[in-house]
Amino acid sequence: MSKSPASPTTPLAVVILAAGKGTRMKSELPKVLHPLAGKPMLWHVLTAVQALSPAQTVVVTGHHAEEVETAVTPDFPTLTFVRQQQQNGTGHAVQQGEAPLANFSGTVLIVCGDVPLMRTEALAAFIKAHQQAGNQVSVASTTVTDPFGLGRILRDDSYKLVTIREQKDCSETEANVSEVNTGIYAVEAEHLFSLLAQVTTNNSQGEYYLTDIVPLGLAAGLKVDALPIPQPAEELAGVNTPEQLAEAERIYTSKSPANIAFGLFETKGLVPAISQLLTTATSPVEALNALSALVKSLVEGKGQTIKGTVEKGAILHGDIHLGEGSTIHSGAVVEGPVYIGNNVTIRPHANVRHGTYLCDNCVVGHSADIKNALCLNGSKIQDGTYAGDSIIGHKGRVGSGVILANRKFNQSAIRVDWGEGPQDSARDFLGTFLGDQARLGANVIASPGTVVGPHTWVGSGAVIKGYLPPDQLITVKQELETKPKDRIDLKAGQAITYDID
Ligand code: UD1
Ligand code: CA
Repeated sequence: MSKSPASPTTPLAVVILAAGKGTRMKSELPKVLHPLAGKPMLWHVLTAVQALSPAQTVVVTGHHAEEVETAVTPDFPTLTFVRQQQQNGTGHAVQQGEAPLANFSGTVLIVCGDVPLMRTEALAAFIKAHQQAGNQVSVASTTVTDPFGLGRILRDDSYKLVTIREQKDCSETEANVSEVNTGIYAVEAEHLFSLLAQVTTNNSQGEYYLTDIVPLGLAAGLKVDALPIPQPAEELAGVNTPEQLAEAERIYTSKSPANIAFGLFETKGLVPAISQLLTTATSPVEALNALSALVKSLVEGKGQTIKGTVEKGAILHGDIHLGEGSTIHSGAVVEGPVYIGNNVTIRPHANVRHGTYLCDNCVVGHSADIKNALCLNGSKIQDGTYAGDSIIGHKGRVGSGVILANRKFNQSAIRVDWGEGPQDSARDFLGTFLGDQARLGANVIASPGTVVGPHTWVGSGAVIKGYLPPDQLITVKQELETKPKDRIDLKAGQAITYDID
């Protein structure tokens, strides 16, 4: 039964399974609301699928349905929720989507809400492969060293897909198969619900298995296949336990900081352009690029709009906006394009350079140097500090003499984009991202790409890098050794050298 491959414009709908209890998390919080890098797992899944611009996204909720729906609606207002009253299995869960998808024709992508590391590019490549093959049912597979607990992809001698077998239904030989079901499917809408209607509970768990649409589709003569999905298996593992969540967080934060999604800043109450920038950027680097474009667009060609005070001896170049109640003190140098909000203080000899946006009530210290940086309301950069290509959250504090290093010289940032082949995405400027109310003590050095979680405080002198989780107190343990030193009295004309080791 061959059909012409779906055209690239085939409409897409998404069904996300999020009704399960998540018993193994041993927590009152519904599983999909457990946070990874500050945002619920379901938020990450939604972020990945919404980037595919589906015509419809249906989320199946059940356990603590209201809590789940309330948690994600503000960021994803266009979702359709359906309730699965009893958790009778994954097949039963997808069936709940029948009513909202009644008039939909196209490809339905089915994913689970407990796979927070799922990537848009991998999903797009999988859907494309499904459509190009002209399949009616495709399941995304991956190969793992330890398949325990997962559905095995069973093929015949000619590599033809036969069925998917759950752990509990596997024979010993079948249990050795390392190709497994990721729980991601692409199914043509016209077949999905008629196949689901035929699913029974005839298995060892007495559940309606979604996986049964594979043998049922094959029996109906449809084109059904398991397609390997181009994303590492470890990133597609469903999170079922606190240990697996910790592992997912570790993987997530060990990636280039450019991949760390935002959960750092409260965007309510910000001027719309800034709030939009922080909510639409999919990575900090993207946000920085958007920032420089935004600052330019706000001031370019408008010269100097000065509503505040510029003290004698301050030097202003280029296009600058200075809001009401703000002061640029003597000796400070401001080089546009720069946007400065209201009640901001730029202290003497500070240097505020291109691409900087200072929200209301910020302070830039004496002799500080700041460029292409966004300081959210009430943040302070203290004296003698360098802040380049950085975002400082609300009431963030960057102590004196801090270096927010922004430039990465090595070439190790070359990353492989699945589906596109290797790409050189090495970026020179990575910058530092301080969440709301994060604080850095004096003389902290932040390596390029450091991300500090909201409310985390770092003590003086620390050299920090990578991702520092929220609400931590981080200090440097250093032992000073003190011992008596020989006293040397110098006579006139005598010179000595004294080694300090
Ligand atoms: C499922 C697959 C398995 C696959 C694995 C990948 C089936 C029968 N098995 O197993 O082949 O290898 O995912 O991770 O599909 N859910 C509901 N309602 C229900 C049951 C589940 O919404 O009635 C949701 C859960 O909240 C979860 C997802 O479906 O997000 C997967 O369910 P789960 O019980 O974790 O399936 P697995 O046993 O992991
Ligand atoms: Ca699971």
